[in-house]
Amino acid sequence: MPHLSDAQPILPHGGALVERMVDAEERASWLSEAARLPRLSIDRRALSDIRLLGVGALSPLEGFMTAKDYERVVHEMRLASGLVWTLPITLAVGSAEVYDLNGAKRVALYYKERPVAVVEISDIYQPDKRVEALEVYGVDDPRHPGVRAIYQQGEYYIGGPVYVLDLVLEEEGPLAKYYLSPRETRRIFHQRGWRKIVAFQTRNPVHRAHEYLHKCALELADGLLLHPLAGATKEDDIDVATRFACYERLIEKYYPVQRVLLAAFPASMRYAGPREAVFHALCRKNYGCTHLIVGRDHAGVGNFYGTYDAQKIFERFTPQELGIQPLPFENAFYCRICQGMATSRTCPHERSAHVALSGTAVREMLQRGQAPPPEFTRPEIAEILVRRTAAAHPTLPAGR
Ligand code: ADX
Repeated sequence: MPHLSDAQPILPHGGALVERMVDAEERASWLSEAARLPRLSIDRRALSDIRLLGVGALSPLEGFMTAKDYERVVHEMRLASGLVWTLPITLAVGSAEVYDLNGAKRVALYYKERPVAVVEISDIYQPDKRVEALEVYGVDDPRHPGVRAIYQQGEYYIGGPVYVLDLVLEEEGPLAKYYLSPRETRRIFHQRGWRKIVAFQTRNPVHRAHEYLHKCALELADGLLLHPLAGATKEDDIDVATRFACYERLIEKYYPVQRVLLAAFPASMRYAGPREAVFHALCRKNYGCTHLIVGRDHAGVGNFYGTYDAQKIFERFTPQELGIQPLPFENAFYCRICQGMATSRTCPHERSAHVALSGTAVREMLQRGQAPPPEFTRPEIAEILVRRTAAAHPTLPAGR
């Protein structure tokens, strides 16, 4: 049986948590300063980055990348300091907005008319979007949702440290309680005495292959952080409230509740496959995890990446410079002959005996009001998905 190496409490990336939320006693003066500064409106994706910066999930980043960090990340997957970092964290603006800044040293960021952060402007630069797309996403095809997002955003990037004033959590309603910061997850892990902690990144509704990975990980680790991504995803992905409802039901019925922690990961999804897998790992290291599950086509979309590319990329770095280890899994499925979940490492049977459904196939079934088969999704989860899909699309015939 493979053993997860004996982990000490894991340090954040770069050695310390860099939490950019301003202190409560300084907040009022920051807010009055924000009211005097030039203003930029930001979207949900930028808000996600601000939330991550606020709580230290992007340690050691202090803000949006300057040209120096950006160039090195795009071309070499490292910050200017040499530390591993795979995705650009940038604040895009249009040329009219740059003009309106009129040389200002600071700018206030507003989300839905609410001041959320102040950026101290270190530089403003024009990225080569095509190069960014090719290097980071491996393609410059605008059908790729991450690439499309780059092409749709402003022509310039503003780099500089961020002072976060507001995380806007009440917008998340009943899910707000799941937004645990790295400081909070670390405290919980410590209280529970967990040392080997496996994180699970996910953007899809939980299904039995996911559950299989969780349970295998629980055989090896002290605890499991179930960490669904809660920021912006592409339009046809299932909404975050539904995904959390599925997890609540599944944990209640099928998981050793004292060995799992369910929390929200506020990032938006880039669909950058391999590079995003490393990013997901570094963020989870900041949350205090020692391992990240990396299964088939992690953070992939369509056929843009090879099934195991997101596992192979980890070989390009030393374990020391990553600090968190990937826990790789082969494609998992239900086998009708084994009568259980398996992978090609454990099951000798023909593909025809395997139950595997694509995300698109599942979405189509749900939109017809049809439950995915129990070999794919637990009936309790299927029931939630069918009900919520019918509520979201009341014109579609339900129950067929
Ligand atoms: S992702 O974009 O967050 O990667 P998803 O929520 O589908 O999408 O996957 C979460 C994690 O489970 C990823 O590590 C992914 O590789 C893994 N995974 C999903 N389905 C399977 C499967 N059938 N077999 C093995 N790993 C899987």
